[in-house]
Amino acid sequence: MTIEEVHLWRGTPEQQALRSQFAKTTQFAYFDEQLDHPDWPGKRVLDFGGNKGNLLLDPACAIRHQDYYGLDVIGEAIDEGRRMFPDAHFIHYDRYNCSFNPEGVRDLPVPDPGVEFDFILAYSVFTHMTLEEMTDLIAQLQERLARGGVLAFTFIDPHWNGNFRWRLEKRNSADRVEKLLAQSRDARWCSLVNGTELYANSSGAWDSQVEDCVTYNVYYTEEFMREQFPNGTIKKPVNNEMQHCWIKR
Ligand SMILES: C[S@@+](CC[C@H](N)C(=O)[O-])C[C@H]1O[C@@H](n2cnc3c(N)ncnc32)[C@H](O)[C@@H]1O
Repeated sequence: MTIEEVHLWRGTPEQQALRSQFAKTTQFAYFDEQLDHPDWPGKRVLDFGGNKGNLLLDPACAIRHQDYYGLDVIGEAIDEGRRMFPDAHFIHYDRYNCSFNPEGVRDLPVPDPGVEFDFILAYSVFTHMTLEEMTDLIAQLQERLARGGVLAFTFIDPHWNGNFRWRLEKRNSADRVEKLLAQSRDARWCSLVNGTELYANSSGAWDSQVEDCVTYNVYYTEEFMREQFPNGTIKKPVNNEMQHCWIKR
């Protein structure tokens, strides 16, 4: 079975034991490139959905730890971040997420850490929640920017560079992959629940009392994102990554 981030926190004990082996460390380089190499030192950064502070794992990360604010719905990840980066700030945000925090509080407002941010970054966060959740959160995050601040988040275009095929191939037979690709061929956005259940142009449906560790992946075309969030610009993936970047300066 393919391990996704959610399994490292909510999966079986065997899956959780793999946590330290699965740390992705390319997020800083990704945003640095997409944002044209900003002068990071001294800039306050909110890493929205930052998990345990993966952005800081890159030795080249130029964000000062005291200026870093990591916010996430997984309490354990926040605890781990605090242990690993004692000078940084970590905030637990106990908001409902169908996959990462199904016991969380629905519609909980984004906490106010009492500072405004020069950068708000979200890597692969809105790729795991409904369009409604994302729209609400993006509106709230824009309110947290300092004057001249930048909000940047990633999304995945299903039709770009075989992105959706790659995801489907993780959990489906070759025949089923072709069938699901045909069903999603003209979709402007789509979601995939548990790696196998496709919802085209829809956020999908799931049981709110989820016992299994549900994965939830959502995909938007560049054109759809431009229409939904017209006040930003969109950049194609860089550094061989799969994710597009939406940026509001
Ligand atoms: C795929 S992980 C990416 C983590 C991190 N950004 C990284 O690049 O390593 C998605 C993260 O988003 C977090 N998340 C999901 N819904 C959230 C929400 N409403 N608010 C904040 N974080 C959320 C999850 O708990 C998880 O840590």
